[in-house]
Amino acid sequence: MSDNWQPLIAESEFPEDGKLAARLAGWYVLIGRGEDGFHAVNDRCTHQASLLSSGRIRRGAIMCPLHGARFELATGRCLGGAYKDLRQFPVRIEAGMIEVEVPDSPPGMDEIPVSV
Ligand code: FES
Repeated sequence: MSDNWQPLIAESEFPEDGKLAARLAGWYVLIGRGEDGFHAVNDRCTHQASLLSSGRIRRGAIMCPLHGARFELATGRCLGGAYKDLRQFPVRIEAGMIEVEVPDSPPGMDEIPVSV
């Protein structure tokens, strides 16, 4: 990481359903709110590159809407281990604003979801 913090949204305005998709410096980012705070992962399933953000979050994991793989938001880990883990991005709160740190370089083709 390279100190490329991107402001996202005020913490007080975060959606009630506990997730938000955003495009930050070219990256597709899914931010989820868990019991222990906010977590950000690449919004791309590691199975067949579907957008994850239209999936449901249950018990701290996002479920891929295409084939049902589940990824733990706090770690990016694929539950069950069938697919690679998700890339994670650091999250911080600065003066009430949620910020996400993304790499300086834009995502490669293998990190961009297919349905966008
Ligand atoms: S594309 Fe996500 S489980 Fe297949």
